[in-house]
Amino acid sequence: MLNQTYPYYLANQPQTSKAMLDVFDKYSGKLATRVAMPDAKATEKAIAAAVKAAKPMREFKPWARQAVLQHCVDRFSARRDELAEALCIEAAKPIKDAAGEVTRLIETFRIAAEEAVRINGETLNLELAARLDGYHGYTKRVPLGPVSFITPFNFPLNLVAHKVAPAIAAGCPFVLKPSEKTPIGALIIGAVLAETDLPQGAFSILPLDGAHAAPLVEDARFKLLSFTGGQIGWDLKARAGHKKVTLELGGNAACIVDADQGPKLDKVVERLIFGAFYQSGQSCIGVQRIYAHADVYEALKRKLVAATKKLKAGDPRDKSVFLGPMIDEAAAERLHGWVMEAKQAGGKILCGGKRHGNMLDATLMENVPAGAKANRMEAFGPFALLAPFEEFDEAIAMVNDSDYGLQAGIFTDSLEHAMRAWDELEQGGVVVNDIPSFRVDNMPYGGVKLSGLGREGVRYAIEDMSELRLMVMKR
Ligand code: SIN
Repeated sequence: MLNQTYPYYLANQPQTSKAMLDVFDKYSGKLATRVAMPDAKATEKAIAAAVKAAKPMREFKPWARQAVLQHCVDRFSARRDELAEALCIEAAKPIKDAAGEVTRLIETFRIAAEEAVRINGETLNLELAARLDGYHGYTKRVPLGPVSFITPFNFPLNLVAHKVAPAIAAGCPFVLKPSEKTPIGALIIGAVLAETDLPQGAFSILPLDGAHAAPLVEDARFKLLSFTGGQIGWDLKARAGHKKVTLELGGNAACIVDADQGPKLDKVVERLIFGAFYQSGQSCIGVQRIYAHADVYEALKRKLVAATKKLKAGDPRDKSVFLGPMIDEAAAERLHGWVMEAKQAGGKILCGGKRHGNMLDATLMENVPAGAKANRMEAFGPFALLAPFEEFDEAIAMVNDSDYGLQAGIFTDSLEHAMRAWDELEQGGVVVNDIPSFRVDNMPYGGVKLSGLGREGVRYAIEDMSELRLMVMKR
């Protein structure tokens, strides 16, 4: 059960307001809860408080940051069921996926608790010539200062965690705008942070709508903007001024199935189905393009279609349901339109292809033209296309024929092909013998091309939220 209302957080304190944001149950369409909405004055106060908190946060010792993060681990563990239920309602995330995301939230904070006490520097030998005798260099990392975060609807907990937990570990005060479609996860994180002794002003969580989020992007008092979402991220970067910007903007992830996978197809199919359709494909690394060697193509296709047809769709609260609705009707309508466009351009629907409100069938297609939106753009829904290849070079070229490059997968027994994929695929990450959707929360995660800038994964985000400071000492 969700609370009737939720406060927002300004300078660590819960706040009520007259203006309320309605949050809907994305499956039933009914009002689920209401959230207090900050106004422009509150946003200004949050930024001023973050600026004031920069020094106390910098001086907040690593062990104290670790204790805050560990408190979060303990409290999220105690509130597991409540957190999973909130995701299930506000994001229509099937309850199994929701429980999995809570586990990852806890892991992300645990990793940050570990990292908080190992932010180290190095010793440099500067004695490169006789004139430099006695000079030594030392580096350490210092927190950047106030940072701003904007997070999307598809992982309302863990993509918030990937910004908030490193900020606390690094010693940066932050102002966060969660997605207005799914603010509850972030607000429960706020409730837990409010139980800690973080310096006043260390965090504000403001469920603003996009129209009122400009200060988080443009205000020069922020030293970094970290954004996860769609291609609008590039516009935000253009408006961000001198601050650092990190962007995680998704893609049309591809997976290669090599000629030698015939005996392993059942396992491969199980993973591809998961990668294409978990949480209705609403993941930046959901499998969208499957390229299979001609030797295994027909068998793979048959098995994929059979397995897709068996997926149970419906109420995300039902533990046996695999496929819930998309976040809203507009999203389902958009992707359904792309499927119809691809069909008209010569694509063949192998299964699915129908829409009922915000529920889109798990859909597989083949012969989708390279220029079709369903191929070139980010589907971000329960859709994947299949295409065969003859030569491995061709598979590499097909994966690289994309404006995006976040993660790719390859199933192969050939070490040579695995190494070539790692060398030649234009991606932030290459996953060998699993799907591109594989992610553990300590690995560097981010893309090339239009997929983004910078890397998340706790240690890498801490690097972004801190800067090197050098000391030179003459003996
Ligand atoms: C994303 O959709 O950007 C995140 C995927 C994940 O964390 O698994």
